[in-house]
Amino acid sequence: MGRGVSLQVERGAGLAAGFLDEEFASGGAELRDGETLDWDGADAVLCVQPPQAASLARLRSGSLLVGLLAPYGATALARTLNERRVSAIALELLPRISRAQSMDVLSSQANIAGYKAVLLAAAALDRYVPMLMTAAGTIQPSRVLILGAGVAGLQALATARRLGGVVYVSDVRPAVKEQVESLGGRFIEPPALEEAPAEAGGYAREASEAFLAAQRRQLAEQLALADMVICTAQVPGRPAPRLISEAMLDGMRPGAVVVDLAVAQGGNCFGTIPGATVERRGVLLIGADGLPSTVPNHASALYARNIAAVIEHVLGEEGFRLDPEDPILDGCLLTHGGTCRRDDIVQPAGQSPVGARS
Ligand code: NAI
Repeated sequence: MGRGVSLQVERGAGLAAGFLDEEFASGGAELRDGETLDWDGADAVLCVQPPQAASLARLRSGSLLVGLLAPYGATALARTLNERRVSAIALELLPRISRAQSMDVLSSQANIAGYKAVLLAAAALDRYVPMLMTAAGTIQPSRVLILGAGVAGLQALATARRLGGVVYVSDVRPAVKEQVESLGGRFIEPPALEEAPAEAGGYAREASEAFLAAQRRQLAEQLALADMVICTAQVPGRPAPRLISEAMLDGMRPGAVVVDLAVAQGGNCFGTIPGATVERRGVLLIGADGLPSTVPNHASALYARNIAAVIEHVLGEEGFRLDPEDPILDGCLLTHGGTCRRDDIVQPAGQSPVGARS
């Protein structure tokens, strides 16, 4: 199309997100039914989640696969890609550097999750969020506690502030204090312990059990005062830190709401279940899995722009140029030339590496 590329799109692919087949067609794409898509002939396949095994088996040797490939522990996927000599870009592994910002799918989707989590909590809450002065008296603003101040946490903070809440934020990375305060939040300093979790590549490292215990003691007081709690604390490739125990939930007021965005990674909060809302002694626990898909139009538009930026980056005059030394590709090029380049990610500790194709 714009770059001399021809595109096939699965018929109906955008319908649930509000994009009609005609819009893809008028943009120059060829619409095909799922079973007639030309997997064998494509130079690149752009997807949201990893394709089914039957489709992967049809990928042409030397072709490129780009998407959220769930690379952590994905040994079977890496083996298949190596056997087919498919180069795969796992968007989860894109480095968090300025040059890659336009491609950063995790950020664009986490932003949506943080925003929607606050709306869900506000809708379920038994109180107003803002301070209101009415003839019947003054209503105090709701108190919001946010665990984790990454992309989702900061957007949750901004959204809760726009609704008029008083917002407290906990994170283990002291560097985020300034960001929290610039958005009108009050930062809860991490416990002062020697074994405070270090930071690597902008991400938190996994905290020790002693550190988490100290953090839970510190957060118990905050929880008892909170109306809304938004849990976003995560450590890439590891179970989410358990920051709210059963005993801490007992200290919360009935009517309070907890939204756990980390629920798919084990949850920050005791008792949350992926995709379910449960009530425990009057406290509502919302296991918010996959919130970006509840804002499908903008989630898809942003995802598409991220993918387009990746393609712009690797598309040369003569086709795709995948330079493993490129600082953007170095981290996220999962497989290339029959070799798994990220055994550290794909391989759970203690198993033999996927490495090169057998
Ligand atoms: P994430 O989803 O991996 O984690 C969310 C937050 O949880 C992080 O801030 C982390 O420090 C925090 N956390 C971990 N353990 C915790 C604990 N025990 N208690 C409280 N909080 C805990 O993070 P996300 O949103 O993917 O962002 C990671 C980093 O990348 C951030 O520093 C973000 O600002 C940075 N970033 C940089 C970009 C760029 O420069 N292009 C783009 C996007 C993000």
